Amino acid sequence: MKIRKAVIPAAGYGTRVLPATKAMPKEMIPIVDKPAIQYNVEEAVRSGIEEICIVLSRGKNVVEDHFDRAPELEEKLKDGGEAKAELLESVIYAAKCAKITYVRQQEQLGLGHAIMQAKNFVGGEPFAVLYGDDVIIGEDPCCAQVCRAFEQLGKGAVAIKEVSDEFIVKYSSMKCEYIKDNLYNITDMIEKPTLETKFSNFSILGRCALPNEVFDILENLPKGAGGEYQLTDAMKVLALRDGMTGVDFTGKRYDMGNKFGILMANIDVGLKHPETAENLKAYIKEISKNL
Ligand code: UTP
Repeated sequence: MKIRKAVIPAAGYGTRVLPATKAMPKEMIPIVDKPAIQYNVEEAVRSGIEEICIVLSRGKNVVEDHFDRAPELEEKLKDGGEAKAELLESVIYAAKCAKITYVRQQEQLGLGHAIMQAKNFVGGEPFAVLYGDDVIIGEDPCCAQVCRAFEQLGKGAVAIKEVSDEFIVKYSSMKCEYIKDNLYNITDMIEKPTLETKFSNFSILGRCALPNEVFDILENLPKGAGGEYQLTDAMKVLALRDGMTGVDFTGKRYDMGNKFGILMANIDVGLKHPETAENLKAYIKEISKNL
């Protein structure tokens, strides 16, 4: 069955990048000139997703404003004529690029709980998840890669990559065996393992395509690591029962919930952005003399 809908959970506290996230959602942190969450919305659209649900929480209404029309600003930019035409286009594009619905997570009880809030939006269909703070940049959108794996192999699919021990204990660890190309069969998984309990260094990074029955599993799920309802624990049930597909995806992933991830994203995109590339290259060359 084709995946038409996507959920973007973006209700978390973002404690790893405080104080920046005290009054501003981490999903709104810009990569050069575009907030992280817009990269994710655009990735979903490029992946053939028709409807998106963003899960928000108190104080995150600015995300809704970002994807809304802004008549006064648009008028001001129109008055600027040719010089402001491109900016005007970018402002209108953000409001028109996708069909977005918003739901609210009243208490931040974990990613699994956030996904549950989108149950009515999803209806009875399979759906994609794009973690709001994980930006993945690549030719072939990562969301499309997991959706294709879901559609071709008929099982839940997750984007995976090998990460170092430093990160595996903060993310999740997959028990998996190689199938072919960049695909793995996942038969078990664990959220935030220790180095003793990890299965491998393959971890889920930010994208999944899930069968609808994951909602039934989430409904009966006990709290997991960190006292939160973990999406990984629900996917573990699927993995143990039917197996899941791991897609060792192409594309570069930036953790926008992490200080260094934000810097990396800004440098990489800044080095390609027509307005900043030349100056940033010269600046990096200059400061690297003293590093
Ligand atoms: P994270 O665990 O990275 O987000 O969840 P967090 O809880 O904001 O992180 P820190 O540790 O406090 O910095 C991955 C994604 O799931 C969302 C987050 O907004 C993020 O995009 N999330 C997490 C929710 O929507 N609700 C939650 O209860 C937890």
